[in-house]
Amino acid sequence: MSVAIFYYSLTGNTKAFAERFAEDGFNSAPIDSVIVPEPFVLLTPTYNFGKVPEEVSDFLTDFSEELQGVIAFGNRNWGEKFANAGDIIAKEYNVPLLRKIELRGTEKDYEVIKEELISWQPRNTSR
Ligand SMILES: Cc1cc2nc3c(=O)[nH]c(=O)nc-3n(C[C@H](O)[C@H](O)[C@H](O)COP(=O)(O)O)c2cc1C
Repeated sequence: MSVAIFYYSLTGNTKAFAERFAEDGFNSAPIDSVIVPEPFVLLTPTYNFGKVPEEVSDFLTDFSEELQGVIAFGNRNWGEKFANAGDIIAKEYNVPLLRKIELRGTEKDYEVIKEELISWQPRNTSR
């Protein structure tokens, strides 16, 4: 059993990472597409001093029941605020922060996440 991947991307880094999963047979879709609710892991960048993008906050208002975990993207130049959107979402929705990834990520980032998502056992998301 795998899990869907829903992502947000403004400048294409998160999108580039997420699209590799589509090539590998995952349901990987941007949050502004037509979303049919199913258990998903969220991929989101961090913007503006460690914030969750507003589009992502709005999306979670509607779909958080199916949220299984979060992978956050950012740039280490931001220091303590690196990929901080993941910390915020993990805390707010009580889901695991699976990884923080810089820019488009590395081959290792991809392989580690793929292994984890391929055998994902959906958690009970009633909260
Ligand atoms: C205005 C601006 C603010 C940013 N703020 C943060 C931040 O607070 N923390 C962080 O880790 N990265 C920050 N970044 C870096 C982005 O998160 C990073 O480039 C990411 O890969 C963008 O993802 P996307 O291309 O999918 O939109 C910021 C980038 C910009 C342009």
